[in-house]
Amino acid sequence: MKPKAVVLTGAGISAESGLQTFRGAGGLWNGHSVYEVASPEGFRKNPALVLNFYNQRRREVLKASPNAGHRALVELERKFDTVVVTQNVDDLHERAGSSRVIHLHGEILKARSVDDPELVYDWTSDIRETDRDASGSPLRPHIVWFGEEVPLMEEAARLVLGAELFLVAGTSLQVYPAAGLLSLVQPGVPVYVVDVEAPNHERMGSVHFIAGEAGSVLPSLIKNLVNS
Ligand code: OAD
Repeated sequence: MKPKAVVLTGAGISAESGLQTFRGAGGLWNGHSVYEVASPEGFRKNPALVLNFYNQRRREVLKASPNAGHRALVELERKFDTVVVTQNVDDLHERAGSSRVIHLHGEILKARSVDDPELVYDWTSDIRETDRDASGSPLRPHIVWFGEEVPLMEEAARLVLGAELFLVAGTSLQVYPAAGLLSLVQPGVPVYVVDVEAPNHERMGSVHFIAGEAGSVLPSLIKNLVNS
């Protein structure tokens, strides 16, 4: 049986594919109010604005391609039973070839019923205010907004508790509960954090931090982990 690895990724791993991160200079949250575009209240107040914001994100994801960072994580599967737990709503891990991907914050290429969270549809075009589910309810992006439950959190936490290797790439570790996964890693388990800037997190003192872009750092780091 292969040892178990869990990889937590964030917007930084898709930055080299041309997708904007959220925080920092040029980040999405610099140009938009988080609560206007990423909360249930914002959607109720101005559905057109919210749909437009995510329609734009969907178009960008469809134009983007996986980069060397996404592809390196596929190589990890040669030695480790690997699960990628991503905060990203793009499908670049899947397109790179990762076999198990958990999307904590939802998926931009899906739409769901406003009234029934179980009614989820594959969706590659814009979502319009006039679009309806099978029962006639409006549709919304299949995204976990601020103030909403993170349905896959329990599964992710269980995986992290059993991890024998934990990698983090391209996340500022500012958003909970996702950032709390790092604190669940068991003592003695090696943890590597790859980011252009050291994230601010209580566990950073006990991790191997490697500064650099995911697409440059991950291929060599993963080659070493697979061959060691
Ligand atoms: P952030 O924008 O908060 O953080 C991106 C991180 O990636 C930062 O630490 C950057 O330094 C780093 N970074 C940028 N380019 C990089 C590169 N080429 N290689 C490696 N690292 C790089 O994004 P997240 O941490 O993913 O949630 O944000 C978490 C959540 O906050 C998102 O899922 C989203 C947002 O609000 C929702 O919308 C629910």
